[in-house]
Order: sequence, then C-alpha cells, then structure tokens
Amino acid sequence: MSARKRKPFWRRSTRIIGTERRQNPEGDEFETRTVHAGQEPDRATGAVVPPISLASTFVQDAVGEHRGYEYARTANPTRSALEACIAELEGVTHGLAFASGMAAEDAVVRAALRPGDHLIIPADAYGGTYRLVARLYEPIGITWSAVDLGDLDALAGAWRDETKLVWVETPTNPLLTVVDIAAVAAFAHDRGVRVVVDNTFATPYLQRPVELGADVVVHSSTKYLGGHSDVVGGVVAVGDADLAEQMAFVQNAAGAVPGPFDCYLVLRGVRTLAVRMDRHCENARAVAALLAEHPAVARVLYPGLPGHPGHDTARRQMHDYGGMVSFTVGPGEDAALKLVASTRLFTLAESLGAVESLIEHPARMTHASAAGSPLAVDPSLVRLSVGIESAEDLVADLRQALDAAG
Ligand SMILES: Cc1ncc(COP(=O)(O)O)c(C=O)c1O
Repeated sequence: MSARKRKPFWRRSTRIIGTERRQNPEGDEFETRTVHAGQEPDRATGAVVPPISLASTFVQDAVGEHRGYEYARTANPTRSALEACIAELEGVTHGLAFASGMAAEDAVVRAALRPGDHLIIPADAYGGTYRLVARLYEPIGITWSAVDLGDLDALAGAWRDETKLVWVETPTNPLLTVVDIAAVAAFAHDRGVRVVVDNTFATPYLQRPVELGADVVVHSSTKYLGGHSDVVGGVVAVGDADLAEQMAFVQNAAGAVPGPFDCYLVLRGVRTLAVRMDRHCENARAVAALLAEHPAVARVLYPGLPGHPGHDTARRQMHDYGGMVSFTVGPGEDAALKLVASTRLFTLAESLGAVESLIEHPARMTHASAAGSPLAVDPSLVRLSVGIESAEDLVADLRQALDAAG
C-alpha cells in the first residue's frame, strides 16, 4: 500500500481495512452485515477475521505521510474495524469505540454540551448515566432535568431555552420503560435539539434509533454487543460528521480508548448478535410468562407483555422485545434479597446481555448510585438478564426460587 497524505484522525471512522469485498447493490440483510461489516479479509495475510493490531505507533514514510495510522490512542486498525461495523449496523456513517459505555456517554455529552446548557434525561435513566450527569456535569454548570419521556407534556414542561440535548434510553434499565423515539425526536427537532438514544438493551438487531429519527446512538458494548461477559466497552454511532469529529477530538484528547483485544472481542460478539438475540427474546418470553402467573410476583415489567404500558410502542419500533425482564416481589425487599440468592442458573451478578442468565437487586447493586434521589429504585425490584440456556431449565430454576421466597 503506498503512503498517503496524513488525514485528520476523525476521518478514520468508517475506514474498512483489507480488500474490498464485492458489494451487494441491494444492500445485505442485517444478519449478513453482523458477520461481514468492517470485517473484510486482512489485505496483508488473507486472515478472515480482523487481526488484533497491538502496535502503539505506526511508521511514517515521510513526516506527515502515513498509511492511515500514526498513534494508537488516535486510531487503531482493530478499533477501526469495530467502528465501521457498528456504524453500518446502526445505519450511519460514523462509529466510535470507547473504553466503556460510560466513556462513550461522556464523549457524547462533552462534544454536544457546554456549561450553561441544559440536558434532559429519562426519569428512570440508568444509574450510571444519572451519576455522570448529577455528579460530574452539574458541578461544571450543565443543568439537567429528569423527565418521563413517555409524556410529551412533561417534556414540554421541562423544556428551557438552554435545552441542547435529549437523552433517551429505551427500553430503560432497570424498569423496561419504552419511549417512543420518533415522537421525542420530532418534538426535539422542532426545537432544533439533538436526540441521543442509549440502545444498549435493544441492540441494533431489535431497534435502530436513527431510522426512527434519533441523531446519536450509544451502547454499553459490555452487554449484548460483546455478549459473553468478558469485555468492557462502549460505542457511539452518529451520522453528523461534525459531531463525530468533536467526539473523536474528545476521545483523542481525554484518551478513553478501548484496547485492541477488547475491540476484537466486541467484534467477535457482534458476529453472533442476531442468533443470540433471537434466543434471548424467546427465553425472556417464557420467563415473563412464568412471572406473570406466579403468586409471589406483584408486577412484571416486560415490554413483550400486552399489559405493559409501552407494549404498543415497542411493537412498532422494535423487531422483538429483548432479553431483559424486571419484576417486583410481592412480600417486599427481604423476599427480593432472598430470591436473588436462591437461584441456581441465574447467577447473582451485575451487568447483563451475555449468554449466561444473571439476576440482581438493582436498588442495592446496579442502581445504588441513585439511592435517595428521584431516580431511586423500588427495593422490591429484581432484574433478570435472561441468557441463552434452555428456557425450560431457566423457568424451573426461577420457579423454585420464587416458591422459596414467596
Ligand atoms: C443502559 C446502559 N447504559 C450504559 C451503561 C454503562 O456501560 P459500561 O458499564 O460499559 O460503562 C450501562 C451499564 O450497565 C447500561 O446498562
């Protein structure tokens, strides 16, 4: 490959490494893209999976002339492959990969907002998002409101002249609230404001926010994209080149980059995303059906149930309802704590979205940072990340734990 002139680092995002595979002019189906997007055979060796490129620096053929890479904080070939893949799956031109989901969120906010700006987050945002906003941005002059985004009157009521960004999460963690992305995007765009969607729970297989009108998509790729509880990462997908450039600038300046091996793991996870998600959804349906009829359960939160308040919206904007199920235990917190310690296959642990089933107590675990705030979680709530094991085994495990707790 001949040396080419230095390009600004943010131009790297959708570069495809390796040989150019013949394109299908009709566009490939999503499942095909999970296997091939950004994952051309390596041009140098023909390797059919992107190599893990460990170099921290790259030769310059003359000062300012290089082959697309100069220093690995700025760009790295394995990261570029993941970024190209994510951009293509979310249907945008730019992807960026980060060291964690929180680092991805941080880059979006720092690129989009300045002190004095106002941010709207969901009333039941992920606890880490709330902590980022309340503990890191508020002290530097970014104001914020937590709003029920299912209620456009509430959104209008919270709106200010300084509102510059609306943060949507759907379905939310841990309450599985579904937000109508198209409705919020139309509302915000009428006022010239961008909308970000945290698409961690749905993944681009089940929901593509940009097609529904959102401007930016973020993921904790620690979850379904990685899919195996063996990597921490975050990704952003965006179509606006200027915003992508600002985020790449934030990332290069602040340095929250993922390691090459982490990028490789996420990319490997993405290759099986579609088949894993189908099984997660199928198993979650079986688990939700058990919970809906068990006497120890007070309330089941699963968008796939017809009684869920967001069911119709979810049916419209999602391809299926996902693998996360939350529920409240009738007798209260003690019973919930007993339950989460009584399952055999559902492992008591934070995180979600991997092949193995997990159970947790949000109020004391993942959402402890929201304790005492308006975003505090009901202590009788239990959250399940339903894995891809046998549905029959999972239902039996949960039934015995519920019987014991009730
Ligand atoms: C919806 C959602 N967004 C963002 C994050 C943060 O991601 P990470 O833990 O990879 O930093 C999480 C983590 O649980 C999450 O559930």
